[in-house]
Amino acid sequence: MASHFRSTERQGSEGDDLLQPVAPETAPQAETLTPEDTGAFLKVAAPEAAPAPAVEAPEEVHVVTAAEPEASPAAQQQVSESVYSSLASDDAPVVPRTGTPTVSFKNVTLIYPAQPNKPALDDVSLDIYPGEFVFVVGHSGSGKSSLLRLITRELKASSGRVIVAGQDLTKMRNKKVPYLRRQIGTVYQDFKLLPDKTVYENVAFALECIGKPRSVIKAQVPEVLRLVGLAERMHHFPDQLSGGEQQRVSVARAMVNRPPLLVCDEPTGNLDPAISLGIMKLLDLINRNGTTVIMATHDREMVDSMRKRVIALEAGHVVRDQERGGYGYYGAL
Ligand SMILES: Nc1ncnc2c1ncn2[C@@H]1O[C@H](COP(=O)(O)OP(=O)(O)O)[C@@H](O)[C@H]1O
Ligand SMILES: [Mg+2]
Repeated sequence: MASHFRSTERQGSEGDDLLQPVAPETAPQAETLTPEDTGAFLKVAAPEAAPAPAVEAPEEVHVVTAAEPEASPAAQQQVSESVYSSLASDDAPVVPRTGTPTVSFKNVTLIYPAQPNKPALDDVSLDIYPGEFVFVVGHSGSGKSSLLRLITRELKASSGRVIVAGQDLTKMRNKKVPYLRRQIGTVYQDFKLLPDKTVYENVAFALECIGKPRSVIKAQVPEVLRLVGLAERMHHFPDQLSGGEQQRVSVARAMVNRPPLLVCDEPTGNLDPAISLGIMKLLDLINRNGTTVIMATHDREMVDSMRKRVIALEAGHVVRDQERGGYGYYGAL
């Protein structure tokens, strides 16, 4: 299969192909989605995949909201176990950890000038491979956000090496950083939407900033908004939306440029469990279509029930790195 990323509209920059996608055909479909739901947006491959006009929107991703809880008896049974059980990945193939890691930390130490005697990260080494879904857990102050901010080069390691798709970020020149960031979608706890722009404009803005032509913006924005279940809310402003809807806008904004890596810092931290489930379904869908997802979270129930890879931090150290792990004891501290 042709590349999932950057196969059609190259932006002509040296950093544009930093990240390689995982082959989507190895990933199973999420059960709530039809191929039309996901294929049109996430599996961008052949040149003919210029987005089709939105004649009839396929069924939306089933996103649970507080007003619309899961209704079927089967779903209710799952809810009684955990709202996230339906996303458990025990039957999903473990992503092979081969080839070039998407993210590689080699003996990384990060010291903030304000805390010279207490490294935020201390001698951290880890590899994350294309197509993985990784939870980064640990209690407040353990270093989760610092780890993510090294991946996006918002921070530079004090020592050691941070390598993203073969590029050593500790050596990367500042002028190349914007090209790195085009390849990494980011989602934060506080959504970071622009309050005076509509949903459509918030998502379009991400493409305008990187110089995408109007035709691409007009095609891709509605498409990604359909993917996140917000086609009907395109012309609303953020303050007219619920928290879960606002977070879906920020996921849409992160994904509209189809980055191969999505970094999420406590994206469900402000949302209640039913709403969080909708966000997790989206992230799971995005991952199953080949995007590597790295997500910091405090949410014990979510981590315990989804059985993804878990990297646990404690005072800046990796204390556990487990395939299909649970949250561990960190939430209780
Ligand atoms: N800008 C900063 N300046 C100084 N210390 C910081 C800064 N940001 C975070 N820290 C410290 O680094 C450690 C890790 O913080 P952080 O990465 O935010 O953890 P987490 O996201 O797990 O809560 C904490 O001790 C925190 O106080
Ligand atoms: Mg944090």
